[in-house]
Amino acid sequence: MNNIDSYTHTRGESIYLDDIPLLQGTLFGAVFPSPFAHGVIKSLDICEAEQMPGVVKVLTYKDITGENQIGGIVPDEPLLAEDEVDFCGMPVAFVVAETDEEARAAVKKIKVEIEKLPVITDPREAAAKGELIVPPRTFKLGNIETVWQQCKYIFEGIAETNGQEHLYIETQGAYAVPVENNAIKVYSSTQGPTAVQRASCRVTGLPMHMVEVDVTRLGGGFGGKEDQANTWAALCALATHVLRRPVKYALSRMEDMAMTGKRHPYSSDFKIGLDKDLKMIAYDVTFYQNAGAAADLSPAVMERTLFHSTNTYFIPNVKATAYSCRTNLPPNTAFRGFGGPQGMFVIEAAIAKAAEELGIDKDVIQKRNLNKTGDEFPYGQKAESEAKACWEEAESRYGLDKIKDEVESYNALHKLNKKGVAVMPVCFGISFTNTAMNQARALVHVYFDGSVSVSTGAVEMGQGVNTKILQVAAEVFSINPSRVKVHTTNTSRIANTSPSAASATADLNCKATLKACLSILERLKKVAAEELAVDVASITLKDEWVYADGERTKLNWKTLVNTAHLKRVGISEHANYSTPVIYFDKTIEKGHPFAYHVFGTAITVVTVDCLRGIYEFEAVKIVHDFGRSMNTSIDIGQIEGGLVQGIGWMTMEELIYDKEGRLRSNALSTYKIPDIYSVPKQIDIHGLESQNDNLAIFKSKAVGEPPLMYGIGAYFALRNAIKAFNPGADIPFSAPMTAEKTLLALYSKTAKGLNVVNKKVEISVQSL
Ligand code: MTE
Ligand code: HPA
Ligand code: MOS
Repeated sequence: MNNIDSYTHTRGESIYLDDIPLLQGTLFGAVFPSPFAHGVIKSLDICEAEQMPGVVKVLTYKDITGENQIGGIVPDEPLLAEDEVDFCGMPVAFVVAETDEEARAAVKKIKVEIEKLPVITDPREAAAKGELIVPPRTFKLGNIETVWQQCKYIFEGIAETNGQEHLYIETQGAYAVPVENNAIKVYSSTQGPTAVQRASCRVTGLPMHMVEVDVTRLGGGFGGKEDQANTWAALCALATHVLRRPVKYALSRMEDMAMTGKRHPYSSDFKIGLDKDLKMIAYDVTFYQNAGAAADLSPAVMERTLFHSTNTYFIPNVKATAYSCRTNLPPNTAFRGFGGPQGMFVIEAAIAKAAEELGIDKDVIQKRNLNKTGDEFPYGQKAESEAKACWEEAESRYGLDKIKDEVESYNALHKLNKKGVAVMPVCFGISFTNTAMNQARALVHVYFDGSVSVSTGAVEMGQGVNTKILQVAAEVFSINPSRVKVHTTNTSRIANTSPSAASATADLNCKATLKACLSILERLKKVAAEELAVDVASITLKDEWVYADGERTKLNWKTLVNTAHLKRVGISEHANYSTPVIYFDKTIEKGHPFAYHVFGTAITVVTVDCLRGIYEFEAVKIVHDFGRSMNTSIDIGQIEGGLVQGIGWMTMEELIYDKEGRLRSNALSTYKIPDIYSVPKQIDIHGLESQNDNLAIFKSKAVGEPPLMYGIGAYFALRNAIKAFNPGADIPFSAPMTAEKTLLALYSKTAKGLNVVNKKVEISVQSL
């Protein structure tokens, strides 16, 4: 089944926030952002702005009728600055005017006097100064202290990944409308309608039943609208509450890039120990997460970094520690993978370091250490592993040895062009790591004309969740999909929603839909049995007809639901689903946090032009663990999109903040993302269809985030190509590997000495 949005998307008819027809009297907002990253506000002059044409009001923190607080996990984030600013772009005032242009013109007339304070942009500096968002956490397995003596090889190093701009096509925005009796309706481009509702209530002081949030769809979220849609929605809601007029604010691209947080940059220390058989037996890692100026989702992101610190490998002795460091950057936030990619990059760097120092191929170590079913993760859960199955399928299907041979002969023949190949296995846990968030609700109405409406807490952001929800209803009732409509996500229809995130949206909301539909189906079958005077167990519904004992009867779907209604049998249902089995005990950092894991393996081949430092990805060949995909075209789209987004993060997307905490890569002229010319020339995707049982909807495993991490292979393929040109190249483990960094590495001096702590390298490639 095609994505149900494809028709209106391609015709430009889909409704986004900016397509909502405006009510008469709608006002427009614009934020005055802090020009400095850290300082004390000495004075704020809004007089001239207030006199500007069309301006209705300039709101500051003094106008907040509730609490000046939008922090979700930690209450450390004011909606509008009071006497201090903590990052460049921090909202200080909100101008509301008759038109968009007038609001933005008035913003320019606001004057602020700020006494500057020292600016921290580096997470290690923040940690050294004790600037932590939450106390550090450590995950442990085995005994790291005693095992180092047993290691034949020990390697240490530093690995760094930069942040990433979400660059959803639709920028952030909201539209608040006053409704009678002081209530408000908020349209928001958010992954978290309830988060927007909560923030709007907090700042206005209204109870939650007075604020209704409605979301049609997003032009992309990628995590950037899990928490950070709250600010604009709360500002609009506040203005509407104060002025009793509709207020809209949609950010321009540059406002969005400058004011919102991004993927967290990380700087990490690793130490890895291997035995004589190249089994990784000890891993010690410390992560310094650059959280930005407020907590936002950083503690949860940090937690997922710890969960994925060993990626898909079994290492019996692990100590992983993470620090969430407060800096003067915009608060960093969720981004596809949610800290997992940052954790995985470090273990891959550690393995690369070991391989390079030992003079062997990285995939030799990777393959030997893949986890298998029953192996324990550092957080206590036992793997149900498809790691080897994916690896071996990729190896044989795509001919890994042959690819490596071809790369080698190409490199022997070519002096100024070099190819590199890398294998990237991925293991990603599915569920919110915060167990309580793994719940969802669905409201299903069957109308007496036979049509069906479904509402859930799921937000459609391009990932195709609405299509999957529709498939569930059509399948349970065995009716034509055209009879089903999935409605907007609305907090009055579905309450207390978890954000659409953690790749768990389809599982959670489809399962709630399944439950609701099954309850209605049970009642319908009873009605059919009565009408036909047969046993209810003999009734089935197939292709819009009622069957009794396998025989088609006179009842069809339409007559059945109409009969049920006339008999006063309820044909609506509200159902609740919460993931079974999962739990996590933070006091011991052990549990079973994930419903299941998603596995996969990608082989990446790159060609580097060694004169210019530019490169092209020839191919990425993937074996992906779908479970049993319920919609292959959507799932393949997710893999392609995730992969390319991951490659962008690893290669060309270079976020630059200067020492003053100002974003320099603040437009698409200075921040490069992959375009159609930079995607791999060939992307092969093969689904590993495992028969194993799992908790996914119809056994169709979650697919939203895991493929992003295939992109990590791009960095290591590039690294290998550079080493083919300059074997001694001193290449820091620092992503993104831009063309500039590639050029520098190609002509870098040989790394000084080997950093082998335990100098007993006597391994030969042949003996492996
Ligand atoms: N795909 C599209 N087209 N647009 C998006 O914003 N977000 C990603 C992923 N795929 C995203 C996307 C992220 S960060 C997540 S968590 C999942 O989709 C969320 O949807 P799911 O839970 O239904 O997989
Ligand atoms: N993943 C994504 N988003 C989240 C999570 C998570 O585990 N926890 C809270 N928000
Ligand atoms: Mo995705 S980062 O969990 O929104």
